[in-house]
Amino acid sequence: MTDAVEAQASLEGALKDEIIRMYEEIAENPDAEFHFFHGREAAELFEYEPEWLDRAPAGAVRSFAGVGNPHLRAAFKTGETVLDLGSGAGLDSIIASWAVGPGGRVIGVDMNPSMCRKAREHVAASGSDLECHEGVMESIPVPDASVDVVISNGVINLSFRKRRVVEELFRVLKPGGRISITDIVSGKQLSQKIVNDPNLWAS
Ligand SMILES: C[S@@+](CC[C@H](N)C(=O)[O-])C[C@H]1O[C@@H](n2cnc3c(N)ncnc32)[C@H](O)[C@@H]1O
Repeated sequence: MTDAVEAQASLEGALKDEIIRMYEEIAENPDAEFHFFHGREAAELFEYEPEWLDRAPAGAVRSFAGVGNPHLRAAFKTGETVLDLGSGAGLDSIIASWAVGPGGRVIGVDMNPSMCRKAREHVAASGSDLECHEGVMESIPVPDASVDVVISNGVINLSFRKRRVVEELFRVLKPGGRISITDIVSGKQLSQKIVNDPNLWAS
């Protein structure tokens, strides 16, 4: 391994640990201080409908951590299959499940077992019907051409392998399928100090 490849592998490992630590903290202790918007305050800022936030389980709202509102352009139809990439504590999945109705299917995928556990509890409390698969967005645990719509909220920016994630999105989508994601992009090159800081990258 060259020094550069070794340095990248070590940074990638540190980043994964920090992402797991950070989102475990949001799942288990959502009222703590975080250096990014989360919970109901964030959802209201991103124009989530107040009735969604009143109807969803309080825990899913409190542990919500997104950067925008992927539901605005998802144009869900009843009966569709939705993949929620990086489903967290489940708020976006639960909202999608209401939109596709009982004949539809929502599959959440998250690499953090605490998030999937919380999502399952919240889903049970909401009476919604959806699954959370533990897995990574770089190798989505879903068959080829099986999904009508992919939603994702503040997740792809967390990956070291964004091209790979996009390839995976196209693999799992049915022909004519749709992607509605909200994420973070930078219009300018970030300094190496920021790029190498797992705490900032994980937010
Ligand atoms: C910003 S939150 C998403 C919030 C969520 N949509 C909600 O309704 O609250 C990001 C989520 O992506 C997950 N995540 C981060 N990296 C991942 C990866 N490589 N594969 C799968 N999930 C990942 C985190 O564990 C976290 O739960």
